[in-house]
Amino acid sequence: MTAPTGNYQGVSGFTFTQEENEQLTRVGPGTLMGNLFRQYWIAVIPSSFLSESGVKPLRIRLLCEDLVLFRAGNGKIGLVGAYCQHRLAPLYFGRIEDNGIRCLYHGWKYATDGTCMEMPNIPAEQQFCDAIHHPSYPCVEYGGVIWTYMGPSKELPALPEFEFALVPDEQRSYRVFHQECNYLQVLEGGIDPTHVMWLHSPYNLADESLAQKHQPSQHIVANKSGARTPMAIEIVDTAAGFMYGAKRPFGAGEDLWRVNQFIMPFYSMPPGSELRGARIYTPIDDENSIKWQINWYPTQEIMQSVKKGDRLNFPEEEYLPATHEPYSFIRPKATKANDYLISWDVHRTQRMGIAGVNLQDRCVTENEGPTPILDRSKENLCSGDYTTIKARRMLLGAATALRQRGALPPGVKDPRVYRVRATSKVVPDSIPWVEGVKSDVLVSGSTALG
Ligand code: FES
Ligand SMILES: [Fe+2]
Repeated sequence: MTAPTGNYQGVSGFTFTQEENEQLTRVGPGTLMGNLFRQYWIAVIPSSFLSESGVKPLRIRLLCEDLVLFRAGNGKIGLVGAYCQHRLAPLYFGRIEDNGIRCLYHGWKYATDGTCMEMPNIPAEQQFCDAIHHPSYPCVEYGGVIWTYMGPSKELPALPEFEFALVPDEQRSYRVFHQECNYLQVLEGGIDPTHVMWLHSPYNLADESLAQKHQPSQHIVANKSGARTPMAIEIVDTAAGFMYGAKRPFGAGEDLWRVNQFIMPFYSMPPGSELRGARIYTPIDDENSIKWQINWYPTQEIMQSVKKGDRLNFPEEEYLPATHEPYSFIRPKATKANDYLISWDVHRTQRMGIAGVNLQDRCVTENEGPTPILDRSKENLCSGDYTTIKARRMLLGAATALRQRGALPPGVKDPRVYRVRATSKVVPDSIPWVEGVKSDVLVSGSTALG
């Protein structure tokens, strides 16, 4: 695909029809993307949300399926259909027992793998547990995260070897937020090289003290280039996606390259400092998603040498009390309904008036058009959107190859393709940028660049 310059209106392959938009955004059982995503392990929630056995289940919805997640008394994790097979009472209110969950209505009991174990409201000789098939998905705890596999294969895929999953607990942190929109527009915000210096930067790029209060340190370095518009954006394919570099001037004979990763099916990594970053955009259903903000230090030494963490937290991001909705326990205070607690005074005079990069992104991605699913047939795309277009084409290509030829998508078989990082690095003009950043973006053992 050779990209035209500037205006992409009417250019075949660089615009999207309503039909393609449907294909890209619908995630329920049997849909094109739903089937693609079911080939992979899916991050459900950080393990810390389910730290104690037997306390209470969590209401989960993934790829449009309502589920409950619980840890039985024996420590095993169950992710099972939300409604009892008898008369569909909510298993969320079930009683967690040593080896399963018991429906509160008439006492039917399910094991963590969904097997119906008892129907105690009728005599033993009349019970028909074997005829009951309750939905359930296998879970593993890996890297401080509960992952599930919702696909058709008996053989589980390899667990993705992300660096954040491989480091000790104390070197990483997870933050998760419910988002009131389709997963794809949140993902697209994570691989969008030209918005950072507009949405997230102070109106006066030289205002460092203002930037320090709400931007991570590598943004502040980019501010110093004084260039809101990148000189170039270059894309390089990797084994499970692509990485791209946005180039900005950085003095004589040197350029600042901000390098992001897009990784199939719904991961990105923003350019970090020594504190590295990754994002997951898990689809809850067609109109809701979860944004994961992951940070980690690759080594103990690096963690020790960095005096102050780069992680900025804002009171507006604290969680609201949970409701009856799935994943409502991770909704931040700043929401669509309260204009993200914007300060219009700050907005007018200093910077985007919403607190911090995360909520600023949230404000934009939850409100792209009047519906929770952005209508991509109405966009007017430009060369600044090439990374977004590329990711959409990659998703459509992999999902179509799976449907038509049964081709396994990238990453399912080789977990080492996930051994990558993003970076923000000054590279001399005299060498190709990929050479200049290679040792930063590849984690040892990586097969991402072959
Ligand atoms: S509805 Fe669950 S046991 Fe009857
Ligand atoms: Fe952003």
